[in-house]
Amino acid sequence: MTESFPTVPLDGAPGMPLIGFGTWLMSGSECYEAVRTALDAGYRHLDTAAIYRNEPEVGRALRDSGVDRDEVFVTTKLPPPRADQADQVLAGSLDALGVDAVDLWLVHWPPGGARPDVWERFVAAREAGRARAIGVSNYSLEQVDELTGATGVTPQVNQVSWAPPLYDPAVEAGHRDRGVVLEGYSPFKNTDLGDPVLREVADAHGVTPAQVVLRWHVEHGVVVIPKSATPERIRANLAIDGFSLSDDEVARIDGLAEV
Ligand SMILES: NC(=O)c1ccc[n+]([C@@H]2O[C@H](COP(=O)([O-])OP(=O)(O)OC[C@H]3O[C@@H](n4cnc5c(N)ncnc54)[C@H](OP(=O)(O)O)[C@@H]3O)[C@@H](O)[C@H]2O)c1
Repeated sequence: MTESFPTVPLDGAPGMPLIGFGTWLMSGSECYEAVRTALDAGYRHLDTAAIYRNEPEVGRALRDSGVDRDEVFVTTKLPPPRADQADQVLAGSLDALGVDAVDLWLVHWPPGGARPDVWERFVAAREAGRARAIGVSNYSLEQVDELTGATGVTPQVNQVSWAPPLYDPAVEAGHRDRGVVLEGYSPFKNTDLGDPVLREVADAHGVTPAQVVLRWHVEHGVVVIPKSATPERIRANLAIDGFSLSDDEVARIDGLAEV
């Protein structure tokens, strides 16, 4: 996989680029065009889900992009209402995306509890080579521990809502201690981009508050997957490698957490 952006290592899977492209609430040609723009801009990580109903467009954009399938880290998710048909759902996702395997398959949210029986299907999918890495989303650390305790296999990733106002050092450390990659979603929806601290830091670097939010994730080693349907924003959200935040700036942004 081309490392167009720093990656976090995952056992047995390609490195996971710290910035990915979110695709929720996009479908049809809007989704196709946005993913094409993202891949042209240099994103090498796409986040979709069966429930988004856009896997065919994501897959078609990937094929048409001219970028090698193996250069792009592709995540999809199991819809919990269909947890009892996990194998069939994964087969449908692979078919819709037009790939032999996804790089990461996530349980989209706890299907009424941690559900180690569902997690066993994920372990089997990884063993069968249909998912290169496996993880969960919207799980608490206690639920992560329940899966590990029941199966001996710890999720490689937990994708959760994450942004400066949601910053929780105990949650961050809990994932690190367990060797679980923390992946944040909805970086902008959960943030006031007009916040004076973000504006001040942005002005100091000649960037936007949105770029500061994304860079803050990267400084913490948290994977972030901004979504945009707007070409200029798609490109700007990836263009955060020309500056870095000082420890003091990171601490000030951490301080935006609503305690
Ligand atoms: N696992 C889960 O349960 C879960 C839940 C939610 C999301 N996700 C994933 O995480 C991804 C990101 O989260 P999200 O889509 O909820 O929200 P988000 O990325 O925080 O926010 C998207 C919104 O921000 C706007 N935006 C994008 N770039 C911007 C910029 N530079 N400046 C100002 N506004 C900007 C977008 O507008 P335009 O599109 O009009 O540019 C859109 O309205 C999703 O797409 C999905 O892949 C996962």
